[in-house]
Amino acid sequence: ERCVVAVDGPSGSGKSTVSRRLASRLGGVYLDTGAMYRSITWAVLRSGVDPQDADAVAKVAAETELEIGTDPLAPHFRADGMDVDAEIRGPEVTAHVSAVAAVPAVRKQLVDQQRAIIAAAGHIVVEGRDIGSVVAPDATLKVYLTASAAARAQRRSAEVAADVDATAADLARRDQLDSTRAASPLKQAGDAVELDTTGMSIDEVVTALHDLLKT
Ligand code: CDP
Repeated sequence: ERCVVAVDGPSGSGKSTVSRRLASRLGGVYLDTGAMYRSITWAVLRSGVDPQDADAVAKVAAETELEIGTDPLAPHFRADGMDVDAEIRGPEVTAHVSAVAAVPAVRKQLVDQQRAIIAAAGHIVVEGRDIGSVVAPDATLKVYLTASAAARAQRRSAEVAADVDATAADLARRDQLDSTRAASPLKQAGDAVELDTTGMSIDEVVTALHDLLKT
């Protein structure tokens, strides 16, 4: 029986590392939906379109060809044939991704692509904000990872080698944007298992999720 694991939660909750390791442990693939929104944002900025101009953003999204890597050991992304792995983690993309992700046509396009990837996969771990609630409501296991704001800022600033206070401010800003707009993506599925990862190691979290799958 194949399993689809939906891992949702805010930034710095440990989603990416945990999802990749769980996918490897299951011998499955890994889908980073945040990287898809980030890649479209990269294409929007590259095209010179105003990220607040929803119609123009939707048009760029429709014209951008994404290559979505799902190998949990090397999930590389390309947009219009260009390697975007480094740039999609940069400050420009991070500053505009919430606006781009708020465009309904962008969400529809990417959710359709995500569902197609899930349908074609064996075991798969899918990471994002709306996976359990919107993308894969029939997932085998839905988890919602949280962590204290301080722990999240600490982890994220270490990942991107940035100042912890600036990172905390950025996370707070994006949490606010992601959770308050009308079409909020950060929706916890009613049947998701919530796990507070503050003070837990990556391996402890991966093992906890693996145990949930076995029961
Ligand atoms: O982990 P971090 O929050 O830095 O980012 P991410 O998972 O790469 O997602 C970046 C942004 O994409 C989020 O702040 C959301 O605005 C958006 N996103 C979304 O709307 N829906 C998803 N399923 C995943 C990400």
